[in-house]
This record gives sequence, C-alpha cells and structure tokens, in this order.
Amino acid sequence: MMMRLIFVKLFLLCVLFFPSEIFSQNTPQVLVVYYSRTGTTHMVAEKLAKKFNADTERLIDRRKRTGPVGFSRAGKDALAGNLTEIEPLVLDPQNYDIILIGTPSWFGNVTPAVRTFVTQYDDVSSKKIGLFGTTNKTGVENALVQLAELISDKQTIEYPTLPLQSRDLNEKVLNKKIDLFYKKLVP
Ligand SMILES: Cc1cc2nc3c(=O)[nH]c(=O)nc-3n(C[C@H](O)[C@H](O)[C@H](O)COP(=O)(O)O)c2cc1C
Repeated sequence: MMMRLIFVKLFLLCVLFFPSEIFSQNTPQVLVVYYSRTGTTHMVAEKLAKKFNADTERLIDRRKRTGPVGFSRAGKDALAGNLTEIEPLVLDPQNYDIILIGTPSWFGNVTPAVRTFVTQYDDVSSKKIGLFGTTNKTGVENALVQLAELISDKQTIEYPTLPLQSRDLNEKVLNKKIDLFYKKLVP
C-alpha cells in the first residue's frame, strides 16, 4: 500500500514537472526540400507540406535556368551530372526526422540543385527519406533511382517514392498518391 502511494505521488510529480515528455505524441518533424524551375514541383511540395505538417526549403540555383540559354544549359548540366551553386539553406536538415526530397526530372536526371544538396548534406542519408519528382511525361522514375543512388552512395536502399507525370497532377489523383506516400513514411 505504501509503495503504491509512493508510485502515485511520483507519477503526479512527473505530470506536474514534465508534462510534454509524458503526453507528447512524438510526432516526427518533417522537412520538404526541393528544387522547382517552373512551379510544378513547388506545388507538389506545398501539398506534401500540408499533408505531413512539414517545413519547406526551396533550393535556389544560383545559375540562370530561364530562357533558351538557361534551358539548354540546364539540360546539359543535368545530363553531365554537374553540380551547381545553391543559396545557403534557411533550415537545418539535422533538426528533422523525415526528409522529403523533390526534383523535376530533366531528361531523366536529377536537377543540379538537388544533386548539389544531397552531395553537400550527405548526412541526410541517416534520416528517414522519401523522394518525389515531377515530369511532363517521361524520365521521372529514372531521376528518382538516380537520386536514391546519390543519397545511399550506390547501395540499394529502397526509399518510398512519389513519381508524378503531368496527368497525375489533378486534385483527386494527386491526393490519392500523396496519401499512399504518407502511409509509407509515417507509421
Ligand atoms: C532541361 C529540362 C529537361 C526536361 N526533360 C524532360 C523529359 O525528358 N521528359 C519530360 O516529360 N519532361 C521533361 N522536362 C519537363 C519537366 O520535367 C517538367 O515540366 C517538370 O514538372 C518541371 O518541374 P518544375 O516546374 O518544378 O520546374 C524537362 C524540363 C527541363 C527544364
């Protein structure tokens, strides 16, 4: 009886002094890191952020990617696997449990900004990772395989992926695909 009373008192003290430790749901902190040249991947990133209750970090490529010259250089850099210069991140990926990394597919390749991010922040590989990508029609699966290899240093780690073509971007299809992606990442 005495022991039980001591336990009850101890529990009440803990509730009083450490309420967040006792009652917190341990919800994972999620970061969405992505590059977007024309806004499509940005739109998907925003939807993911809403679903995962996540913060977002849009990568800014310091090299010009607009206009005919920018487009042609973009393609050339992606095909060659070139790195680029990105603006320093605002958020620290270290502070997150799950990182969702998104890229448009450029001729079936990861964009230079995202390649640079995963090269510079190679400790993201210790996090739970999900990959998403967009394309008009072709190449996004390949770009995501490439991205997975870059993160895992060529090991065959299977990350949950969300490859999207333009036809998947209507509200209904996209929501369904995002729900499936979410279930793979948040138990
Ligand atoms: C350099 C470059 C290469 C591309 N290559 C392809 C391609 O091979 N197949 C395709 O269907 N779309 C291709 N696209 C289109 C983009 O993958 C697609 O529009 C993507 O959703 C754009 O994302 P963003 O708006 O976030 O930049 C390419 C776009 C660029 C700029």
